[in-house]
Amino acid sequence: MSNKEQVKARIKELVNLLNKYNHAYYVLNQSSISDYDFDQLLKELETLEAANPEFSNENSPTKRVGGDLTKKFNTVKHDFPMLSLSNSYSKEEIIEWGNRIRKFSEDKITYVCELKYDGVAIGIRYVNGQLERAVTRGDGNQGEDVTTNVRTIRTIPLQLHGNYINDFEIRGEIFFPLENFNALNKEKEELGEPLYANPRNTASGTLKLLNSKTVAARGLDCYLYGVYSNQEIATGHYEAVKLAGEWGFKIPDESQKMIFKCDTVDEIMDFINYWDKARVNLPFEIDGVVIKVNNYDQQSDLGFTAKSPRWAIAYKFKAERVETLLNEVTYQVGRTGAITPVANLEPVLLAGTTVKRASLHNQDQIEKLSLYNNDSVYVEKGGEIIPKIVGINLAKRKKDAQQVDFITNCPECDTELVRHEGEVQHYCPNEVGCPPQIKGKIEHFIGRKALNIDGLGPETIDLLFRKDLIHNYADLFDLTFEDLVELDRMADKSANNILQSIKAAKDSPFEKVLFSLGIRHVGETVAKKLARHFKNIEAIIMANTEDLIAVDEIGEKIALSLVAFFEDDVNLAILQKLKNAGLQFEMEEEDEPNNNTLESKTFVVSGVFEKVSRNELKDLIEKNGGKNTGSISAKTNYLIAGDKMGPAKLAKATSLGVQIITEDEFLAMISY
Ligand code: IVH
Repeated sequence: MSNKEQVKARIKELVNLLNKYNHAYYVLNQSSISDYDFDQLLKELETLEAANPEFSNENSPTKRVGGDLTKKFNTVKHDFPMLSLSNSYSKEEIIEWGNRIRKFSEDKITYVCELKYDGVAIGIRYVNGQLERAVTRGDGNQGEDVTTNVRTIRTIPLQLHGNYINDFEIRGEIFFPLENFNALNKEKEELGEPLYANPRNTASGTLKLLNSKTVAARGLDCYLYGVYSNQEIATGHYEAVKLAGEWGFKIPDESQKMIFKCDTVDEIMDFINYWDKARVNLPFEIDGVVIKVNNYDQQSDLGFTAKSPRWAIAYKFKAERVETLLNEVTYQVGRTGAITPVANLEPVLLAGTTVKRASLHNQDQIEKLSLYNNDSVYVEKGGEIIPKIVGINLAKRKKDAQQVDFITNCPECDTELVRHEGEVQHYCPNEVGCPPQIKGKIEHFIGRKALNIDGLGPETIDLLFRKDLIHNYADLFDLTFEDLVELDRMADKSANNILQSIKAAKDSPFEKVLFSLGIRHVGETVAKKLARHFKNIEAIIMANTEDLIAVDEIGEKIALSLVAFFEDDVNLAILQKLKNAGLQFEMEEEDEPNNNTLESKTFVVSGVFEKVSRNELKDLIEKNGGKNTGSISAKTNYLIAGDKMGPAKLAKATSLGVQIITEDEFLAMISY
C-alpha cells in the first residue's frame, strides 16, 4: 500500500471508530472509551485531515464541533411537504377521531402513541448512509438548509450503520434539553444578560445561528418521528422507527413508555393519562402526545386534508394556567445596563409555588401581548424557571385602560435608553454613573466565582456606595478599617474579615481577575480562554477584533465588547488602580494538576450547582486527577448531582449502583 493509501485507510478507520463511540455514548448512553482516548483519536483524525484535505469529508466526526461561519441559509424545497398535525384538546375528540378512522377501513387498526416533543421540526436526508442535507420546516413547502448546524447535534448520525435504505428523509424534532437550557440561562444571568424565554424558541434560534461552534456548545438534542422514502421501508410506522434505531438514530425508548403500540382507544387514553402526569419528570419539554395509525397502506387509504394527515392526531396537554391581576410593570437594570421589564402580579398559586412576578423580557414581548395596565393575565409555568404571561382576559379589561408604554429613560438614573440595531433589549448607556450598574458590577467583582471576597453583601455595598466610599470595584482596595466599622451593624471582627478577604483577592489568578471585571459577554470560560491565549492584560488591551476572533470560542460579539471596554479611559483608569493594588494581570505557570486525590475515578456532573459552576466542577475533577464523562455507565464511580438534574440520569445511576454525591460532598473530597 502506498503511503497515501495508508493514510486514506487510517482516516476511514478513525471515522468509523469515532462514529461508533459517538453512537454508543450519545444514543445508547453507554460509555465504551475514555474521554481522553476519544480526544486522542479525534486529534489524530484532525491532523490527518488537515494534511490530506482530499480525504476529508463533510460528515467526518471532526465536523461535530462546528466550524465555518454560515453567511446565510439557502432556501430548499421539500421533497415531501412538511405538514402539521390536527390538534385536539379533549379525550372526546380522540374518541371521535378513532370512530372516524374505523369507518374508513374494515381491517383491524393498530395505533402508535408517541410524545409530542416541543421543539423545531427538521427533515434530514440520507443518501447511501451519509447525512446529505437538513432542512427546517419553513412554510411546509420550503425551508432553510441548516445542515452545518444539525451536524453538531451528537445524537444525529453523520454516517449510518446496519442495513439502511439508500435514499430517504427522516423527520424529527430538535429540542433543548432542560438541563442544558437552564445551564445556558444560568450563564446568561452570570453575564448580566437578559435570559432566554423558553427552550423551544431558544432551540429554534440556536438552529439558525450562523456560528455552528456556538450551536455545538449549546447541546441540542433530537428525537425522530417519521421516515419518508420512495423506496419501501417497512409495513408500518412503528417498524420503520425501529429500523431507524438500528441504523443509528435516537428513537423513543419503549421501556420508558415513550412509544406505545396499541389496538384500542382505551389504551390510547392510558398513554395520555400516564404522560399528562409523568411529563414533569422528563428531561425535555413535551406539549402533548401524537397518535398515528401504524400501517402504511391504511395511512395512504386515509390520506390527507389540505393541512394535515387524517391518519394522525395530536392531543395537546393543558399547561397549568392561572389568571391573576397585573399590578404594575417595573423595570430592572442589570449590571450591564440591560433593562428587563417585570410584571408585578397579584400573588397566585401555580404548580406548587406562589407566583408574584413574571419576566416580560423586552419591549417586543409587551407589544406582542398588547398588554394594558391592570389587565387580568393568564400565567403559565413550563420547564423553565421563570413563569410567563401567555395571554390576557380581554373581557375583564376596563374601558379607560391604558396600554403599557415602554419607558424611554432609565428608571434609576434617567439617562435616555438605547436599543442597538438588531437587538431586542434596551440598555442604559450610563455605565459609570448608573447606581444599579455600578453596584451590580461591584457585586459581580466580589462574587464567589470572581474574586470571592467574603462578608460584603449587597446591603453593605449599597451603604458604602451611598456614603460615597466606593464608586467602582477598584475603590474596594482603598477601604480602611475605620470606613467599615462606621457602617451600621458592622463589628470589628467583621470589618477585619472583609479587609482580610480583600487582601486575599490579590492572589486570585489572572483568569479570575479578568472574569471579575464584568466585561459584557465575557463569562468564566471566555475569560479562561483569553487568559490562556494572551497570557497578560497588556496583550488583550492591544488586541484588535481579528486577533480576538482568532481565539477559540471568541466570536465577533465578544470581540467588539472587549475592544469597547479597553478603549474606554474610565475602564483603563480603574484597571491601573487594580494593578497598583497588586492584582494579578498575567498568567502564572500553566496550572498543573494539583494532586491525584481522584486518580482513576470517573465522574458525571449533572444539574445546576450553587457554589461552583458545572465547568468549574469538571476542572476540579481533572485537576485532581479524575476523569469526566457525559453519561452514566457501569464504569462511573460518582454522580455529582445538582439541582434540576434529569430524572433519567438519577434513575440510571441508582440502577447501576453509582454513588450519588452532592456538590458539598465532592468539594469535601478534594478539601476545597
Ligand atoms: S408527526 C404530518 N410526531 O408537531 C405531520 N410530529 O404540527 C407529521 N411533533 O411540526 C408529524 N412530536 O414537528 C409528529 N411524535 C411526533 C411529533 C411531532 C412533535 C411536531 C412536528 C410538527 C408538529 C405538528
